[in-house]
Parts: sequence; C-alpha cells; structure tokens
Amino acid sequence: MNARELREKFIIFFESKGHKILPSSSLIPKDDPSVLLTTAGMQQFKNWFAGNEEPKYHRVATVQKSFRTSDIEEVGDATHNTFFEMLGNFSFGDYFKEDAIKFAYEFVTKELGFKKERIWVSIFEGDDEVPRDDESEAIWRSLGVIDIREFGREDNFWGPTGLEGPCGPTSEIYADDVEIWNLVFNQYYMTQDKSLIPLKLLGVDTGAGFERTLARIQNKESIYDTDLFNPIILAVEKLSGLKYKEDEEKDRIIRIISDHTRSATFLISDGVRPSNVGRGYVLRRVIRRAVRYGRLININDFSSIIRSVVGVYEGVYDLNIQMVYAVFNEEKDKFLKTLDNGLKVFSRELHVQRDGNIFSGKVAFDLFQTYGFPKEMVEEELEKVGIKLNEAEFEDALVKHQEISKAGMSDKFKGGLAGTGEMETKYHTATHLLHQALRQVLGPEVKQAGSNITAERLRFDFTYPQKMTPEEVKTVENLANEKIKENIPVLCATTTVEWAKKTGALGLFDSKYGDKVTVYTIGEFSKEICGGPHVTNTGELGTFKIKKEESSSAGVRRIKAVLE
Ligand code: GLY
Repeated sequence: MNARELREKFIIFFESKGHKILPSSSLIPKDDPSVLLTTAGMQQFKNWFAGNEEPKYHRVATVQKSFRTSDIEEVGDATHNTFFEMLGNFSFGDYFKEDAIKFAYEFVTKELGFKKERIWVSIFEGDDEVPRDDESEAIWRSLGVIDIREFGREDNFWGPTGLEGPCGPTSEIYADDVEIWNLVFNQYYMTQDKSLIPLKLLGVDTGAGFERTLARIQNKESIYDTDLFNPIILAVEKLSGLKYKEDEEKDRIIRIISDHTRSATFLISDGVRPSNVGRGYVLRRVIRRAVRYGRLININDFSSIIRSVVGVYEGVYDLNIQMVYAVFNEEKDKFLKTLDNGLKVFSRELHVQRDGNIFSGKVAFDLFQTYGFPKEMVEEELEKVGIKLNEAEFEDALVKHQEISKAGMSDKFKGGLAGTGEMETKYHTATHLLHQALRQVLGPEVKQAGSNITAERLRFDFTYPQKMTPEEVKTVENLANEKIKENIPVLCATTTVEWAKKTGALGLFDSKYGDKVTVYTIGEFSKEICGGPHVTNTGELGTFKIKKEESSSAGVRRIKAVLE
C-alpha cells in the first residue's frame, strides 16, 4: 500500500461510517493566537470541541497538514519530521469511546491488515483528577485485545494545544511498539491556570501519524524509506552524487535536507515568510539549516528537490511551486551572502588571529555578531585546517556583548547578578522562563519579589499566598522545558520605560529604572525589562528542574531550580 492508497482507504472507511470528509486546514491556525502553527488535526475544530461554536457536522474525518517544532533538533534521525500529515476522525457530541475504539480497531486490523499479534494498546491509568479509564479497557477486552497497558498524564492524556482548550485521557494503538493511533476522549476544557472543567459535549479527537503508519504498513525501518520520501531522497542523491544508506553521517545530512525542503515547501505555500520571529523564524531556520547542510554535500540549488516534493503531493495539496522557488531562493541568497562575507573575513583572520592551533574566540564572536556567521561554521572551517576554537573566549565575548546592552539597572537587581559567566547567563534566561511559567500556571497575581543567581542555581522569590501543589510545580517545570525545546531566540532591545510598559513588558522594579531600559523578548512567551545577560536562544539551556518550593516570608514563596 502506498501513501495515496492509505489516504484514500482512510477517507473511504470513515465516509462509510457516516463521517463528513473535510479538507486539511492551513498550517497557519485561524483565530488562535496561542498557537504558532497547526500541530494536530483537531486545531481547526477547537471551537467545536470547546462548545464556543455549534458544530456544523457531528462526525468528521480529515487528513491534516501539521507541523511540530519541538523535534527540529531531532530531525535527521530515522523517525522525526517537522512537517507531517495526521489522519483524524472526530466526533462532536456524537459517538464516544465505544465506536471510536471499534472504528480504529476495525480500520487498523481489517483495512490496513495489521496482524493482531503486532498490536498492543494503552489506556489512562487514573490520577487525583481524572479517573482510570475502565470503560476503554472493557471495550478493548470485548474486542479480544489482551495486551492492554496503562500510563499516566505524560503518555495517556492529550492537549490542550496552546495555552488552553479541550483535552482528555487517551487510548492508543501501538504496532511493533510504534504509536500509530491516538484516540483522545475530549471531556475537559483546560483553562490557563490548568484547572479541568468538564465539557458539556463529549468528543473524540483522533491523531494517527500518517508517515509512521505508512512505514509500519510497508514494513520499513524508517519513514524516509517510504514512497513519500523516495523521490525526494533520489533528488538529493542526484544533486550530491551520494548514495543514501552508505554512510550514517551522510544519511543524516540527506534526511535533514529532505525533511527541511519538504517542510519549507509547505510553510511557504501556506503563506509563511521568513522573519526573525514566530512562524517566520521557524521557516527561516528550516531553510537555513537545509542550505547549511546542503553546502556540506555540495548542494546549492534546491529547485529539483522542491520539484520532487511538489510531485509527491500532486493532486493532494496545492503547493505553489513558483512561490516556493522565489521565497526559498531569496532566503538562501541572503544567508549565503551572510556566509560569504563571514567567510572572507574569516580567511583573512585565520592566520592572524590565532595562538598556535587555537583560533581567537573573540574574532569568531565578531564574525557571528557582525556577519551572522554561525559558530558551527567557524568550527567546520577550522576543522578543515586542524585548528580549534577558543571556546572560553567566545563565551566571554558573548557575555560581554550582552552586558553592554545593560541599561538603568537597579541596585536591587544588581544584587541578583552574582556573576556573568556562562552558567549565570543561562540562569538569567531560565529565570524569565520560570517567571512567565508561574504567571501562566498560578495567575497574573504572581509578582517577582527577588532573584538571586549563582553558577550553580537560580533562586526566585515571588508573591503567592499558598504552597504550590506538586502538580503545579510539575506543570511550571514542564512549561519552561517546553519553551527550551522550542529553541526560541532571545531578542534584546533598548527602549523607553513607557514604551516597554505599553508593549506589555513585565517591569519588576518600577521607578528604579533610568530613562532607557533593555527589554528581553523570548518569542511570544515572555517579555521582560532586565539588565541581562541572557543566552541568545532558549535551546542552549538544557533541562530545567525545580529542586525546591518553600516559604520565603509571609505571602512570598521561593523556588530553587537548576539546569541539567
Ligand atoms: N490530537 C491528537 C494527537 O495529536 O495525537
């Protein structure tokens, strides 16, 4: 069965079960500013599930274009994509668990032909708030499924997308230990403060990963071995003269170029344009990453790869090939010019700015700062001639640069800055993530009451009347880690206090600032007046862990946290 047949089978099956087949919505979500890109089939139906809008249909099925950025750094291994398709059947106050499970099982075993021995399923194990899913277990048993495993919130609870929305316990189907089918039983609305409010209308939201299911059907080790990727990989092979599956390191490069060209093609066709913020930055990153990896295997012109992507989806999605060429090439040229300028300066400096076999970290930083020449490229160039980069000096220069943009810092704040080394810098950015996460989870009454940073940990005091529950602590921690995984650039701007306030920046020590302040922005998540220093991208932070939540003084709580 090939990709086209799988899509068709899915549509015919669910149509025969009374579902209205609707087209995929755009990758740019409509009416939902809390979500950057469409990450699941349910996105276009969020208002129907939530009860904000009357559903036009009560049973719907779609094949939905989706995009998840949390996996960008993983792309290159055999299983991760940025862009993907999702098969979904949805019920809005119509059928619930019984039919959802029966439809899924019938489709997977009869239509797709998965042998029962290859399959196991999972259900929600239950916790303080949401009961164990006995009902789903009984339904699976009635179908003769024996291998039923149970998991908690991490694995068997889905949603909401963005800051709030419908969500619920899930039941999943695994084939050869790969999750291929996710049934979400939408029965709650999660508010921004994470409370669960029962929904009036029970719903079913299915997320079945198209690429993964296809790979399992075709018994391929990887999604890159399916007919969805074969033509794209072939185009990369032709251009580079390489053969896929001969060298693991080269394979990784081939996969990154294939995935990123494919995702850029979809983003551009849906109207995204490169920029330094939001979804524009996602597009900029995938194009630049494709170009950077392309250079490593002598690919400079991506037209035939783009053409192969468009060919794979001919008649399925409208891809605007001329627009894709134009936007992709313009961004590529911009980036190449940046790289070329940087490279020229680099070559000039290569033999001047070095101490034996060590290249000046300060010059490498200037290259980055002035020409946008990435540090990894400096390292690649240096590797060719057997020279190493002075890492410590690079970090130093980075920190110094960030310090220069400090303005009007209060004494109280200075007290919080024990030092400006690499770890301290990271903890400053982590503190902003923590601050915003606390406000989102506990409410806007959370105000910073103090901050202290060392190279080992951050300490953050904030106003809040009671002890946080373990769930709240976990949720805050997860939210901070989510933002780290999203690799959000940390931008810095100097402006007036009034303007900072007007644009919604958090100001912590009112009245103590000078005329001009520095505002650090972390995507759409956080905006805060601060003296810095900060990392340039949240992805540099590692894993955020809350070690302690305790009382500091009356009405003030204290959190100690580390980066691991
Ligand atoms: N909306 C369900 C899923 O993404 O798995």
